[in-house]
Amino acid sequence: MIPDPLRQHLRSCQNIVVFTGAGMSAESGIPTFRDRFEGMWALYDPQDVASLDAFRHHPQTVWDWHVQLADKIRQVAPNAGHAAVARLESLVPNVTVITQNIDNLHQAAGSRTVLELHGNIFRLKAFVDADELFAGDHSPIICRICDGYAVADECGTYATKDDLAAIVLKAGPIPRCPGCGARLRPDIVWFGEPLDIYVLESAMRAADTCDALICIGSSLEVQPAASLPVRAKWGGAKIIEINPEPTSLSFHADVFLQGKAAELLPQLIQAVWQSTNY
Ligand code: OAD
Repeated sequence: MIPDPLRQHLRSCQNIVVFTGAGMSAESGIPTFRDRFEGMWALYDPQDVASLDAFRHHPQTVWDWHVQLADKIRQVAPNAGHAAVARLESLVPNVTVITQNIDNLHQAAGSRTVLELHGNIFRLKAFVDADELFAGDHSPIICRICDGYAVADECGTYATKDDLAAIVLKAGPIPRCPGCGARLRPDIVWFGEPLDIYVLESAMRAADTCDALICIGSSLEVQPAASLPVRAKWGGAKIIEINPEPTSLSFHADVFLQGKAAELLPQLIQAVWQSTNY
């Protein structure tokens, strides 16, 4: 499965990045985005359900779509691939998971250092319209107390942490922050929005300095996320890719393991870190 020199290298690694996309959660039952028939973007136009413009013009439709998605995710569990990634932490000194997924399944499996490039569907934040912020004659609707994160932190004296924690993504009218009154939205990156700069910088630093990067279940079609495995390669890291289909990275990977995450990841960890056969 893994050539011997690469296996030796992986066993001596101090810093490993596990970079994941939707394929990581496919065997848990969450559809990927770009599968030609069942992918989410084959069934819905992301501009209609997951963009700033969509939330501006028909917020309730966008909220309802995310409620449906969150309900589907609540019913699934981490798969053997997520469990294998979490197990890696007991075998390698530093493991950083960089995920494009918003489903919280890495954390549910036990991974402790997870950088969520595209956010997390189970967190809410206040809706702050960047266009309004920059249009001179409009006063910004950013809450001075909660700074746009009404639910993450206490929002002034008007709301307690319990009030805020009780607000979740569920069917019904879009809730408002009980402190500042701002409309709430899922804390995920929609089309037309930048990534959280702190999360992106942390991910770039991890990619730049890792000894190996394992890329799992991503089509690598979305930037800037897709540049991270390439940065790792430039920095001298070994690249392992797991995917049923080749991607733009496969040719440059030190090894391309063609197949499914929940099957191949446990085998990879067994073959490299848990085998006595070396
Ligand atoms: P994609 O749907 O673009 O790609 C999923 C990848 O997973 C494909 O390369 C599949 O071949 C692979 N795959 C499918 N089943 C698999 C399995 N069982 N094991 C391993 N791999 C499997 O998903 P992403 O690359 O994650 O952004 O998409 C990136 C971003 O595009 C998403 O985070 C999302 C989307 O628009 C936002 O929502 C901001």
